[in-house]
Parts: sequence; C-alpha cells; structure tokens
Amino acid sequence: MKLAVVGGGSTYTPELVDGFARLREVLPVEELVLVDPAADRLDLVGPLARRIFAKQGHSGRVTTTADLDAAVDGADAVLLQLRVGGQAAREQDETWPLECGCVGQETTGAGGLAKALRTVPVVLDIAERVRRANPQAWIIDFTNPVGIVTRALLQAGHKAVGLCNVAIGFQRRFAASLGVDPAQIHLNHVGLNHLTWENGVRLGGPEGPDLLPRLLAESGDEIAGSLRLPRAALDRLGVIPSYYLRYFYAHDEVVRELSDKPSRAAEVAAMERELLDLYADPALDEKPELLARRGGAFYSEAAVDLTASLIGTGGSPYQVVNVRNDGTLPFLSDDAVIEVQARVDADGAVPLPVVPELDPLQRGLIAGVSAYEELALEAALRGGRDRVFKALLAHPLIGQYAQADALTDRLVAHNREHLAWA
Ligand code: G6P
Ligand code: MN
Repeated sequence: MKLAVVGGGSTYTPELVDGFARLREVLPVEELVLVDPAADRLDLVGPLARRIFAKQGHSGRVTTTADLDAAVDGADAVLLQLRVGGQAAREQDETWPLECGCVGQETTGAGGLAKALRTVPVVLDIAERVRRANPQAWIIDFTNPVGIVTRALLQAGHKAVGLCNVAIGFQRRFAASLGVDPAQIHLNHVGLNHLTWENGVRLGGPEGPDLLPRLLAESGDEIAGSLRLPRAALDRLGVIPSYYLRYFYAHDEVVRELSDKPSRAAEVAAMERELLDLYADPALDEKPELLARRGGAFYSEAAVDLTASLIGTGGSPYQVVNVRNDGTLPFLSDDAVIEVQARVDADGAVPLPVVPELDPLQRGLIAGVSAYEELALEAALRGGRDRVFKALLAHPLIGQYAQADALTDRLVAHNREHLAWA
C-alpha cells in the first residue's frame, strides 16, 4: 500500500508518521512518499520519519521528493496537508481583519476567506494530477479551510473526503472524563468544518445511551474552561460547541484579545524553528513533546482511521468527516459540505441521518456560514473583487457593507502574489 503526503515537509509530519507506525495493523503502509517543494524541510523530516519507523520496527519505506506526479503515481491514497504561503501568509490573515474590528483567524472570517482564495486553485491542480496518475486514489484533505476545499474537490468530481481533528479531540477528552474507551464514544457531531456542536455523546454507537447530560454535570466546568466560554453557556445551550464557536459567541472579546498579543502564526513559526532544530538531531527517533503544543492533536489517528476505511484495510465503521450534504441537513443545498458522522468504507463516506432536526439556533448559523462558503468558493474559482466582497458581506461575523468593503481592499492588497486575477 502506497501513501503520498502532499506538504510532507510540514513540521506536523512526525505526528502523522508516529500514527502510521503505531497503527500499522490497521493501515499497513508499505511506501510513504513525502512530497514538498521545500527540499530543506524534506531533508530534515524525511530522515526523522525513517528513524521513527525504524525505532518502532515498521518495515515501510519512506521516500521524499518534490515531484508530485511521481509521488502520486500508484498511490492508494493522497493526503493533502499543505499551506500556501506558509505561516507568513497566515500571519497576514490573522492581522489585517483586526484593523476592521473583525476577528483575525486562519479559517474563520475574512482571514479564512483569504486562505481559501490562495488554496483552492492549488489543491484543484494537485487533485487533477492525482486523478491523471491514478483515478482510483482517494484524496484525504486536511488542508484548511477544509469545508471550502472539500466542496471544491467534490464539485470537480474528485474522490475526496475532508478531515479535521476537532471531533477526535473531543472524543478522546470525553472518553477520559467518563472513564471509557474512546472507541466506545460516538459523538452526535454536527455542523460545518470549524462550526460544529456535540449534540450528544453516545456510548457504544449511534443508538447508545446519551452521556452528554452526565458529562456536563461532572465535567462541565473543565470543558467550558478549555473552550474559554462561560459554564452557563454550555448549560443553556445543552450541547458542547467546538472552540471555533468562541469566535462567534465571544467575537468582540476575541478581537480585543487578539489585538493585544502576537499572532498564533508568529507563535507557530517560532515553534517550527525549534522543531526543525530538533528534527536535525540524528539521535531523535520519536515525535518530540513540543509538537503537542500545536493544534493537531490526534490528527494522525483520525487520518489512519479514515485512510484505512477508504482503502479497505480496517478502520472504524463511523467517523466524523467532511462530506456532501445530500439532504442530511435539509435546510442546506445538496452540494454543501457538512461535517458529521458518516459510515465510511471503500465506497466512500455516507453521512448518517441527523436526528432530531436541528434547532433554529444551530440551523441559522450553519445556513449563514454555508452560504458564505458557497460564495467563497465562487470567489476562489472565478476571482474578482465583487465576488470577494459578496462572500465577506454574507459572513455572519461581518455582514456590514463598509466592513466588507474595507476587508476586500485589505484581502486583495495582502494576497496579490497568490491571486492570479488580482
Ligand atoms: C486544529 C484545527 C486545524 C488547524 C489547527 C491549527 O487542529 O482542527 O484545522 O490547522 O488546529 O493549529 P496550530 O498549531 O497551527 O495553531
Ligand atoms: Mn481543523
């Protein structure tokens, strides 16, 4: 089984490789190709990946290349984890929206739109080349903004599934709080990528008893604390929002906080320099502790589970993924991409029914952001200031003419080198 990782020079890769090594029974990787245009990173990450495999007695071969076409040739699955423009572009996304009183974040709001505009054309080009080399290959997209990128891939007819680690993170945390095996926790996870709620926490499977009331009663303070939302907010909603909902429920507070501190991109860039220094040490043969300070916890386990199910070597029957809506949330168009539990096997991912029907509080926000995503994809595919403006105006966190206009100017000014039409 051959797997290609596009963006394989990422400092995240050792997390992924560690998962491949530990979970080789589920996903027997024979050849792992790390693809990246950055040869200097591949020269550090590739050898470390080999040392991680060797230490854990994994017989898989790790190769590195800048040649995408060669890398994806014969691959059973291709994982996309790239970042167009690197942390420098992310830093911009997190900064200029603040000048307009809006949240500066890599996937939420105007910064997320900038990221989508830079990323969609690049990912579509890669996907086209994957299809040409091997039409059977599955594309697993971890590249943000995952909802919009997956929508772009599916709209272009690719064999793609979008993946995020928010759900698996909750699953592991809730399991620990409840004292049960994580595999026993089935989340009623619903919404769009980075706009989700846990509406139920079921024991044993989709039909199991709902432990959410018990979880809130026993661990509500701790969960609210980690989400940085008031405990009362969880009780009043009766569900657990993901931490991305804080950008909505506490928008102005977040804007004030972000205006007073260095960007997350700057923090991550500093961490990446440290990580690359560590990776250069030939004695290092495991993923370093420092990686745990990145947001990607459990990313590798989610990726192994999904890849194994899609290529038919194992994996859990139900997984939270980004898929075509197809009527699951009846208030969205069929081609919207939603993030929900799905049944996953070698034929792909099919969303499980979402019952009971969502209440207006969730439905309204999901519909608003999904409409933004539709317009964002239009802007990413066809370009033009007016399309960018409309997507911004549609975003529930923006919505005002003057702000959308000012944000459009800034987005275009900061991203000219990445936008063919600007
Ligand atoms: C979580 C999200 C990812 C995002 C990451 C950012 O894992 O699900 O989509 O990329 O956080 O983490 P970072 O360490 O880069 O801030
Ligand atoms: Mn994510």
